[in-house]
Amino acid sequence: MHIYTKLEEFNLSGSIKDRPAKEMLSNAIEASELRQGMTVLAPTSGNVGVSAASQCSVYGYSCSCVIPAVTSTRKRADMARFGTTLIEVPGEMTEPAIEMAYRLKAERPDEYYLLDQYTNPANVRAHYLTTGPEILLQLPEITHLMAAQGSGGMLAGLGRRLQEDRPDVQLHAVVAKPGTRMLAGMKESSGQGRPLVDDGLLAGRMAVSGFEAYEAIQLGFAFGLQLGPSAGGVLAAALRLARRLREGHIVCVRGFGREVPR
Ligand SMILES: Cc1ncc(COP(=O)(O)O)c(C=O)c1O
Repeated sequence: MHIYTKLEEFNLSGSIKDRPAKEMLSNAIEASELRQGMTVLAPTSGNVGVSAASQCSVYGYSCSCVIPAVTSTRKRADMARFGTTLIEVPGEMTEPAIEMAYRLKAERPDEYYLLDQYTNPANVRAHYLTTGPEILLQLPEITHLMAAQGSGGMLAGLGRRLQEDRPDVQLHAVVAKPGTRMLAGMKESSGQGRPLVDDGLLAGRMAVSGFEAYEAIQLGFAFGLQLGPSAGGVLAAALRLARRLREGHIVCVRGFGREVPR
């Protein structure tokens, strides 16, 4: 059995989310939905905010991120570094941040461009066009792919691209066990109510606890890897799958490359 992790730290802001942020922004500019002078408004649990902030500096737009109160100080600092305005909403969940962003957009439609990773098809397309082909090129031996499921964009894009060339590759979504709160970027249980989630592409959905994720993070240190909470969860799920299989090449996709667990 072989387990691999796809390194994403060489993206501009150090995160896989640079891919959807770039695709969503460039599409919005092309469609004239995002025009000079407007502010990009991103509801986010963190990584998309950092990516949106860095991409906005490149494209020359102001950026405001609507974040849950639990967002880590490291992610806040990364967003603020690019001059981003942070709008904090109470609680741990992203839903109130999304609601707040829609309210602000409704109040000032000409001022804000709403960057909604949860509904924007460009999120899926980014992974279909870039992450998927890279994985096929870098590891033709791949048999299984595992990734955290948040918006569902990553798994949908990867699943569609991999299925075109390698319908035999099995996709597993990794989600947080109900009540597990600290697996940033990873949602609980089913993908119900999230439009980008495509269950038809999945061989399975595995739920992990915070404890399993933190055990896997410790294991990562032994290999010189700094895994964040959701990447730890994905590795924990990959180890569980590996115990059931006789052979295979499991690819774990991680969100952020330089993460230190909170
Ligand atoms: C660290 C991390 N991993 C995984 C994901 C999930 O990716 P997706 O939203 O495409 O399902 C996210 C999403 O925010 C994330 O921040």
